[in-house]
Amino acid sequence: MDNVKETLRFDYNNMMESYIGKKEGISEKELNSMKLNANEAHAKFKINRGNGMLGWVDLPYNQNLVIKDILLTAKTVRKAEFFVVLGIGGSALGPMALFQALCHIRYNDLKRSKRRGPKFFVEDNIDPERMQSLLDVLDLDRTVFNVVTKSGSTSETMSQFLIISDILKNKYGDDYRNHIIATTDEVNGNLIKIAKAEGFKCFYIPAGVGGRFSVISPVGLFPAAVLGINIKLLLKGCADMDKMCRKNSFESNPALIAATLQILAMKKGKNISVMMPYADSLKLMADWYCQLWGESLGKEKDFSGEKVNVGQTPVKALGVTDQHSQVQLYTEGPFDKVVTFLTVDKYRATVIIPGGFQDFSSISFLSGHTLNELITAEMVATEYALTKNERMNCKISIPYVDEYYVGQLMMFFMLQTAYCGYLLNIDAFNQPGVEEGKNATYALLGRKGYETKATELNSKKSKSNRYIIGK
Ligand code: PA5
Repeated sequence: MDNVKETLRFDYNNMMESYIGKKEGISEKELNSMKLNANEAHAKFKINRGNGMLGWVDLPYNQNLVIKDILLTAKTVRKAEFFVVLGIGGSALGPMALFQALCHIRYNDLKRSKRRGPKFFVEDNIDPERMQSLLDVLDLDRTVFNVVTKSGSTSETMSQFLIISDILKNKYGDDYRNHIIATTDEVNGNLIKIAKAEGFKCFYIPAGVGGRFSVISPVGLFPAAVLGINIKLLLKGCADMDKMCRKNSFESNPALIAATLQILAMKKGKNISVMMPYADSLKLMADWYCQLWGESLGKEKDFSGEKVNVGQTPVKALGVTDQHSQVQLYTEGPFDKVVTFLTVDKYRATVIIPGGFQDFSSISFLSGHTLNELITAEMVATEYALTKNERMNCKISIPYVDEYYVGQLMMFFMLQTAYCGYLLNIDAFNQPGVEEGKNATYALLGRKGYETKATELNSKKSKSNRYIIGK
């Protein structure tokens, strides 16, 4: 880390009318008119921090004992050859984002001597081919599984757990427990009951920490520690960002002003939020952001029970790759997006483009530059092109990708989401919209207690062949 005094920067020039014009941009007047609402959101957040589902706000400060346990356990698990997280949604995306950002980009392909820990896999789907292929790759004698589920009953994760524990039991008898570590709620759910009865090592997800806000609980911290990531520095970054985002002054609170601007953007019909990192190491940060933003803010009803159907659709893109895929649409398609560029000031490697083929002017101009200069120039150029075409965009920059700044970044996004929730007057911490699908799955698979739902499904309108082409 170069200098811990530096911080994440949020540049919103290109969201404003003075840069993208009156029609699409936000005026100073509009921003000022939101100050009162922003201050109210800030006050609500301040009163509620640490309570209810806002327990995650305290995680940078209250985990000393847990961290000791995590580091001790990680020291042993690090000796394994394979470490597999079984989880989905918030129980998978946080560990994946940390892994991608803070480990070697081709970590699993490195020789053991060049890796800080075991090969790492996060199994966040139930595609049978994927499970089979995982089993083809693993050497079970040298594998540790971390089953992660807050509710302790998510069908996808529990089915993976059943498959793995069955295989392990058949192979190792009672010793199978040495291959499984559970991360779950300390009291609620079935996994904790099973874990206690079977004698698994456990880590606990505190009650006030929901899945998509759990990356800085043992959900993300334990896998990170196994991979040799400095989790104390990560939490220090979170704490410092939290302190910045506690400020009462609207103008100097980055998460509050960013949330307010997104609300204004939504009011102007920008219903799509494109997260576009210009760094492969932050590619999965965009995936993590998409869940955080989409599941938290996409809500039917507000706190008073009124139908509001709010939310902004998150889309992930990668610079520069998606310049050759999505940017045409962002530049000329509908005016319905805010593009957030996620940039780093200094990459962890410098690669020089050598000379050669000097007779070809369309190639020779690249010689002597670095890939670092090229990727930065392409980001600046895309930002310019979008702005010129009156497309709303903003930029979040961190000095460097390391634990400290990744901690700042993740805390910034979580706080921005929470402030947005208050500004929209909705509960950002529940997800009632996914229940219908879950209950229908239970009914289809004959789960006890879901007979009425099964009847409802059986009586659903059958599909007409008139609208199906092909046999
Ligand atoms: O953010 C959330 O709460 C969800 O996305 C959950 O993380 C996801 O549904 C998995 O839940 P669980 O951790 O209970 O298995």
